[in-house]
Amino acid sequence: MNEVSKNKKKSEERPFLDVSQEISLKHIPVMISEVLSFLDPKEQETYVDGTFGLGGYSSAILKESNAHVIAIDRDEEVEEIAKELEKEFKGRFQFIRSNFSEIEAVLLQRELSEVQGVVFDLGVSSPQIDNAERGFSFQKEGPLDMRMEKTGFKALDVVNTATEEMLADIFYHYGDETKSRRIARAILKARLQKPFTTTSELVRVVHSVMGAKSGKIDSATRVFQALRIYVNDEIGSLKKGLEGALKVLSPGGRLIIVTFHSLEDRIVKDFFNMHSGKSKNSYSRHSPLPSCVPQQPILHLLTPKAIRPQESEIFQNPRARSAKLRAALRTMTPFYSMMNGV
Ligand SMILES: C[S@@+](CC[C@H](N)C(=O)[O-])C[C@H]1O[C@@H](n2cnc3c(N)ncnc32)[C@H](O)[C@@H]1O
Repeated sequence: MNEVSKNKKKSEERPFLDVSQEISLKHIPVMISEVLSFLDPKEQETYVDGTFGLGGYSSAILKESNAHVIAIDRDEEVEEIAKELEKEFKGRFQFIRSNFSEIEAVLLQRELSEVQGVVFDLGVSSPQIDNAERGFSFQKEGPLDMRMEKTGFKALDVVNTATEEMLADIFYHYGDETKSRRIARAILKARLQKPFTTTSELVRVVHSVMGAKSGKIDSATRVFQALRIYVNDEIGSLKKGLEGALKVLSPGGRLIIVTFHSLEDRIVKDFFNMHSGKSKNSYSRHSPLPSCVPQQPILHLLTPKAIRPQESEIFQNPRARSAKLRAALRTMTPFYSMMNGV
C-alpha cells in the first residue's frame, strides 16, 4: 500500500488525525518513496530538508529512522507546522526560517559543518497556491503578490514598473513564453489606464493577447510561473543552494533535488553533470581551471537520467505530473567552488 492510501485509510479509521496525517492531506509529498530510498536515512545521521513546506519529507525521514532533520523554509507561514514536528520528534527536529541558499551559514550557526543528506523539493506548496491571498494562482482572484516570504517586491511591483523589454525577458526566460513581447506590450498599455493590483487583472490582459487557452493549458500559466520565479529569485537561490549543499555534504552524503519545470531541471542536470565529470565543462586536462581543482569528480550520479513519478502517483496527485528527481552521492574528493557557478 502506498503513502497516500495508507494515510487515507488511517484517516477514515480515526476521527482525529495526528500532525503528519493532517499534513499529508493538505500537501501530498511528491515522490516520497523515491526520496527515502535515495536518502536511505539512518539512525544518528543528520539531513537537511531545504524546502520544509508542510513537512511531508521531514516527517517521513523522521519516521523512517531515528535520524535528525534540520528543516529550512523561507515562508513564515509554515512555522506553526514546524513547531508541531518539534514536539512530535523532540530532540531530532529543528526548523530554521531561511532561504536554502544560506544552507552553509545556517548549519555553521548551529556549529554543524557536515550533514549526510540534503533534499530540495522546489517550487511552491499546495497551500501556497491554494491560498488566494498569496497571489500565486491565476485561477483565484487575489492580490498580485507571489512572494514566498513577506519581504521584498511583489509581482504587482514588477508588472507596474518594469520596462517592456524587461517584462518580455522575464516571460521568455523564466516562462518559455514565445509571445512574451506582445504580452509585455499589452501590460504596458493596460497599466497606463490603471496600475495592476490583482491576479485576475493580469489574467485578463494575457487572455486578451493569447486567448484563454494555449494548447491544453491556461494561457496565463507561463506568465504566472515566470513572475513567481523572478519575484522570488528562484534561479539564483537554486544555484547558490546547490553550491552550498555540496559544501556541507559529508563524503558519502546524498543530494536529492525534485524539480517541476524544465528551467530548474536543466540547472540541476548541468550542476550534477559538471561535478560528476559528465559534462564538457567538467574537470579535464583541456579545462582552463587552476591546478588546485580536483581531477576526481565530487559527485557520483545515482540517477544518470531524471526519474519521473509512477503513473499511480500522478493519478492520485496530479500536481506530481511534472516532477523530476535527480540524486547524487558526494564522493571523497575535497570541494572546489567553481568560479563561474553553474
Ligand atoms: C513544494 S513545497 C515543499 C513540500 C514539502 N516537501 C512537503 O512534503 O511538505 C516547497 C516549499 O519550499 C519553500 N521554498 C521554495 N524555495 C525556497 C528557498 N529558496 N529557500 C527556502 N525555502 C524555499 C516554499 O516556501 C515551500 O514551502
